[in-house]
Amino acid sequence: MSLNEQQIRTALAAVVDPNTGKDFVTGKTVKNVKIDGDDVSFDVELGYPAKTQVDGIRKQVIAAVRTIPGVGNVSANVSSKVVAHSVQMGVKLLPGVKNIIAVASGKGGVGKSTTAVNLALALVQEGASVGILDADIYGPSQPQMLGLAGQQPESKDGASMEPLEAYGLQAMSIGFMVDVETPMVWRGPMVAQALDQLLHQTNWREVDYLIVDMPPGTGDTQLSLAQKVPVTGAVIVTTPQDIALIDARKGLKMFEKVNIPILGIVENMSIHICSQCGHAEHIFGTGGGERMCADYGAEFLGSLPLEMAIREMADGGKPTVVGAPDSPSAEIYRAIARRIAVKIAEKAKDMTSKFPSIVVQNT
Ligand SMILES: Nc1ncnc2c1ncn2[C@@H]1O[C@H](COP(=O)(O)OP(=O)(O)O)[C@@H](O)[C@H]1O
Ligand SMILES: [Mg+2]
Ligand SMILES: [Zn+2]
Repeated sequence: MSLNEQQIRTALAAVVDPNTGKDFVTGKTVKNVKIDGDDVSFDVELGYPAKTQVDGIRKQVIAAVRTIPGVGNVSANVSSKVVAHSVQMGVKLLPGVKNIIAVASGKGGVGKSTTAVNLALALVQEGASVGILDADIYGPSQPQMLGLAGQQPESKDGASMEPLEAYGLQAMSIGFMVDVETPMVWRGPMVAQALDQLLHQTNWREVDYLIVDMPPGTGDTQLSLAQKVPVTGAVIVTTPQDIALIDARKGLKMFEKVNIPILGIVENMSIHICSQCGHAEHIFGTGGGERMCADYGAEFLGSLPLEMAIREMADGGKPTVVGAPDSPSAEIYRAIARRIAVKIAEKAKDMTSKFPSIVVQNT
């Protein structure tokens, strides 16, 4: 009896992708099924970067097809392809950028920047092309955390700027242009102009994801930025204390107001891990982030411990994901990053480049 493609698809329909929760056939990731006598080969094209997962997925799908009686050699080519997804109506995508993820918080000091840089580096580790835009005009910290402090971006044409690079991550920050030791007094229009410049005059080199470290808070600056940036989705960072959650709720509402989907909430500094003995303590109580997610129908993406090493490595210019890639915290960052990428992959694709724009006018 000879093999047919349906048998192969049926076998693969029984395998669930641990990242999407869907089987590989329903998820439309199986392509190019080829049958040569008893031998089978096929491609699996994931919509999210998953370098650390590819081996496991390949073994999983091959094992499933091997269960078909009489099957010979089975080979699978697992790869990723990230495409651009839609943003708010009326806002154009940035050149060289497929998807923008805003990382925001209702107030400063919750670890927004630390989370943003580790998520960006986690996406790099998963094989994506990634940029980080430090839009926190009041306290740019990405140059320091990426070991790029004191460096300046080059300009090839005297107008646009080349992003700097660290650990394979492209980076642009107001911190590259102003002296961080002398705090600047920003007036409203200056802030808007500086942000606009960072956003539109950086030559991002074909990034799958641009992570925007938003200025903390929910004031006018944040709102206008949220309206101008073509954001695919927002991630809210919060700490478990109630007061921070009240602020985080405001952050969530701000994105809702401008029709930016919330990808989920990351709870930072959830439990304290003692650097001496490793024991864990819930200093701020438990479940705050999860309760907030339940209230707003947002996804709880995960929680990071309050851990001395996270701060030390960020301060030292080598964030946890690259400084201690095998640590439990790095694995949490990667799991959250993959989840974010999967959620983006499930969103509607951007069609503005494929269809002429249709203008509806009131007559
Ligand atoms: N999970 C964590 N454990 C320990 N320290 C952290 C953690 N997250 C952030 N920090 C530290 O807390 C401080 C504030 O973090 P930062 O990312 O700058 O906050 P924000 O951008 O929200 O103002 C920094 O010193 C940072 O190193
Ligand atoms: Mg910050
Ligand atoms: Zn202890």
